[in-house]
Order: sequence, then C-alpha cells, then structure tokens
Amino acid sequence: MKKIFLIASGKGGTGKTMFAVNFGALLARKGKRVVLIDMDLGMRNMDLYLGMENRVVFNIMDFMSGICRLNKALIKVDGFDSLYFMAASPRRDDRRITERHMTALCDALSKYFDFIILDCGAGMGGLLDACLPAAQRAVLVTEPEIASLRDADTLAGYLMEKGLRDTCMVINKADADLMRAGILPDLPSIVNSTNTPVVGMIEMDSDIRISTNRGIPAVCKEDGAAEETFREIAGRILGLPPIS
Ligand SMILES: Nc1ncnc2c1ncn2[C@@H]1O[C@H](COP(=O)(O)OP(=O)(O)O)[C@@H](O)[C@H]1O
Ligand SMILES: [Mg+2]
Repeated sequence: MKKIFLIASGKGGTGKTMFAVNFGALLARKGKRVVLIDMDLGMRNMDLYLGMENRVVFNIMDFMSGICRLNKALIKVDGFDSLYFMAASPRRDDRRITERHMTALCDALSKYFDFIILDCGAGMGGLLDACLPAAQRAVLVTEPEIASLRDADTLAGYLMEKGLRDTCMVINKADADLMRAGILPDLPSIVNSTNTPVVGMIEMDSDIRISTNRGIPAVCKEDGAAEETFREIAGRILGLPPIS
C-alpha cells in the first residue's frame, strides 16, 4: 500500500496544512502510526493546527544538520497514541535539504510508521522537489476557483514530468450556494474538466476554521461533519475509486 503522501498546491492558502493534519489525525484515530512532516520552512503552521506550538524543541533542520537525533525531532501529538509530527524550522534555511536527505528520512521513518505525510508549501520547485523521489502519491488541495484549478493542473503536469505520476485532487472550501448559482464550478464540472482524479470535496466550514485556530483537528469533534468527510476522502486516497 502507498504510505508516503505529499500534500501540495499551486496556489497558497488552499488548506494543505489543514488537510494534512486532519488526514493524519483520522488515520491515527483508526490505530495507524502516522507522522506528519511540516515542509513549509519559514512559514510553519502545523504546530499551531495541532495545538503543539509550545512543545517544539527541535525541528527538521536540527535533525538534518546533526544537532539532534531523529527521535528528538519527532514530537508525539497530545491526545493521540500514534500521531507524531516533525516541525519545520522557523527560518527558510532549506539549502541543505536535498532529495537524498528526504529519501533517507522517509526510509528511516518507514520502519516505524504506517503513513508519512509531507506537508509542502505552495508552488513548484524548492522543497517540493526535494520530497518528490520519496513521495508515492501527491494530494493536491485546491479551491473550486478557476485559477486554483488551473494551477493545480499545472502542478499535476509538473509532478508528472518529475516522475510522480500518482496524483489526486481534493477540492476544499467548497461553497454550495455559489456552485448552485453557477459562479463557482461544481463537482461534476470540476471532475469533467481535469485529468487529475478527484477524491473528495470539503465544504467551507466554520468548524474547520475554529479547529485550526484552537489547535484541535476538526476530525476530533464529536458528531461534526468533518470526520465523515475525511473518512470518505481517506478511503479514496487509500484505494477506493475516485469520484466519477
Ligand atoms: N474547509 C475550510 N473551511 C473553512 N476554513 C478553512 C477550510 N480549509 C482551510 N481553512 C482555513 O484556511 C486557512 C488556510 O489554511 P491552511 O491549511 O493553512 O492553508 P495552506 O497550508 O494551503 O497554506 C486557515 O485559516 C484555515 O483555517
Ligand atoms: Mg500550509
């Protein structure tokens, strides 16, 4: 089974980190051993969305530059038995992180974890490229806006050229009213207009906003809509057919 996922997008702010955190939290709540890696160096947010900002001592650059061992850079997330994360460094000093480093890191983590989720910053190049040889499947988090969708298709083409052929797309921040009014493309027209398989859609949801600001993944909320949505999306990412 594919176990190393890259979360990426063309545009910024589409919800990649929100998605990574909830996807990882859902899998961990099902008993899987999951590690989330914040690859957005200089713009780190994952620690906030997990409510762990006061627990970060060492980050990925500390590990990469030999300041700490791997186990010191892995932080167990409060409230979970099997969810860990590795924080990004607060400065964008990523010159030393290469494809070789990321492949070695993922190889080492594969021995201990069922799933590795690499949460990248927006766009192409840089650290995204460093993650590509290790990643087995990319999840492009996209808003249902024509510009965001076009950029996602461009990114899917870029990933393909670089050799990562297994790419799927999650539509986030969907607004049912604007879709019904024909202002935003709806799910069937998105599915028809892209070659990238669509594995789910997440509504614009104030619970999700609250959850990222509180630092508690939305899937942890009892009887919230997010858990069911993420369960469906996770099922498709892990093997069920995409939306047709
Ligand atoms: N489905 C959603 N509904 C409401 N707010 C969302 C949703 N997805 C993400 N957000 C909000 O959008 C902002 C950007 O999300 P984030 O995951 O940090 O994006 P990225 O990692 O792509 O830059 C955050 O404030 C988050 O709470
Ligand atoms: Mg992010």
